[in-house]
Amino acid sequence: MDDDIAIRYAGVQKRLGRQQVLRGVDLEIRRGECLVVIGRSGGGKSVLLKHLIGLMKPDSGRIEVDGQDVVPLSEVELVPIRKKIGIVFQGGALFDSLTVEANLAFPLREERGTPAAEITDRVREALDAVGMLGHEKKMPGELSGGMRKRVAFARAIIRKPEVVLYDEPTTGLDPIMADSIDQLIVKMRERYGVTSIVVTHDMHSAYTIAHRIAMLHEGRIYTVDTPDHMRQSADPIIHKFVNGISADVTDL
Ligand SMILES: Nc1ncnc2c1ncn2[C@@H]1O[C@H](COP(=O)(O)OP(=O)(O)O)[C@@H](O)[C@H]1O
Ligand SMILES: [Mg+2]
Repeated sequence: MDDDIAIRYAGVQKRLGRQQVLRGVDLEIRRGECLVVIGRSGGGKSVLLKHLIGLMKPDSGRIEVDGQDVVPLSEVELVPIRKKIGIVFQGGALFDSLTVEANLAFPLREERGTPAAEITDRVREALDAVGMLGHEKKMPGELSGGMRKRVAFARAIIRKPEVVLYDEPTTGLDPIMADSIDQLIVKMRERYGVTSIVVTHDMHSAYTIAHRIAMLHEGRIYTVDTPDHMRQSADPIIHKFVNGISADVTDL
């Protein structure tokens, strides 16, 4: 086991319906790094993330978290893996009938055994981290889109995960809001040392937050490189993608 690698995909293949979505994905994510995944809409980026937490099983290949292959694990065996991984999905997905506080407490209550006082403290700490202290009693419906996203972030980190997955965290946000979300992703990493995987369409965001950018193309990782190298790449497929991406956004 390579201690420097938090997550490893090796030869991961997945067919969904008639489509061979993943055709042998090989990808290593280093501990503490922020890896951004780019690629065409419908290309399998969300599918890739779902495999990591066992929401989908590959037809073949290995997916390791801290050196452990998660592919053969049962739902019960996946519980400790899922505890290590926080997720910010596209829509934010808060419970509309629960207050901000109750939304955040939910993952802790599910664990059971966490004393009420500790739950209160951790809710406050998580809200503080995303700049949302003081909004505990509000309902999600009373918050702006950007604020809801912040609460979703807070919920994703409340169990202090080692890894946080972000699926299109800035999609649908105005540039200023998108920027503040980017800053939050960087802060999460700096403050908690988490490993982050961010799927995005937004190249501006990718350049801002990424240590490395991986491009998923035709079911494989076509390339993984630094933001600078991606930006300057003479490879026609990369060049076209990183420069023409904004015209290709259909995944809202
Ligand atoms: N549960 C599913 N059942 C069947 N097809 C799916 C399922 N989830 C995703 N797909 C298909 O897999 C492909 C990749 O989807 P996805 O990973 O969501 O793409 P994206 O890169 O935009 O996130 C798409 O063609 C999508 O329609
Ligand atoms: Mg997606």
